[in-house]
Amino acid sequence: MNTDGEMDTVAARFSAEHSEEVVAASFANTSDPRLHRILTSLVGHLHAFVKDVELTDEEWAAAIRFLTETGAMCSPVRQEFILLSDVLGVSMLVETLNHDTDGGTESTVEGPFHVVDSPPRELGADIALDGKGEPCLVTGAVTGTDGSPVPGATVDVWQANADGFYDVQQPELQPERNLRGLFTTDDEGRFRFRTIVPRYYPIPTDGPVGRLLEATGRHPNRPAHIHFDVRAGNYRSVTTHLFVAGTPYIDSDAVFGVKDSLVRDFPVVDDPERAAAAELPNPFRTVHFDVVLRENPT
Ligand SMILES: [Fe+2]
Repeated sequence: MNTDGEMDTVAARFSAEHSEEVVAASFANTSDPRLHRILTSLVGHLHAFVKDVELTDEEWAAAIRFLTETGAMCSPVRQEFILLSDVLGVSMLVETLNHDTDGGTESTVEGPFHVVDSPPRELGADIALDGKGEPCLVTGAVTGTDGSPVPGATVDVWQANADGFYDVQQPELQPERNLRGLFTTDDEGRFRFRTIVPRYYPIPTDGPVGRLLEATGRHPNRPAHIHFDVRAGNYRSVTTHLFVAGTPYIDSDAVFGVKDSLVRDFPVVDDPERAAAAELPNPFRTVHFDVVLRENPT
């Protein structure tokens, strides 16, 4: 760099051999050190990748088309870029690197379907607004890592229906905010709600990400799960899933989101008295999922 802020002519001349250095040098005046580090590293990896695979003009143009179509597919209720990140394992990698477990409930991907605010509901409410599917009682408690209950925690849940679709995917078929709810834990940190057992489902395959999966012989399915996002003051929030034990695709999740600690049995309860107490038809399924939050660092 000379005194006029221009790059030295010789050092700045672009060549295949020195392309990373030349482009990285162009970021020398970036005032934010974190942005500088990210951009120079990104350019380094991108250039190394292009050289490694000897990318052709046609392949570069195809990549631009692919990314353009990925962006064009996005809408308020469809996030194709998150899907792309998910199927490439980047979402899970970011999640895993940023969220140590350390005694708390393990986290997993948020996924692309938390696209509307969940409606606040009373404890025990039924989030299956259309009543379709196998009835299920979900109970649990939110505690700190020392086991102390966390009253007043918000427990945000959302899930697919018995056919494997979220409400936003079927606005003509499902009631608005079906199978979504925002609950607040009671004085003992407990929560409970009624729902139906979710089904495994394919991530949307009618866009560029679907074509990517098809071209690589991968199936698009996710094992059955209920999404949880749990928050409370003075604790680190956790975004996670509760997986249904025995669901198809538990060992080959298209987005790599399964962690063994998040899998639970959903046993059948055949007991008219318990069904009446739960305000569910008999028999019904049930699951218990305790959520452990880590305290915020002081
Ligand atoms: Fe999901």
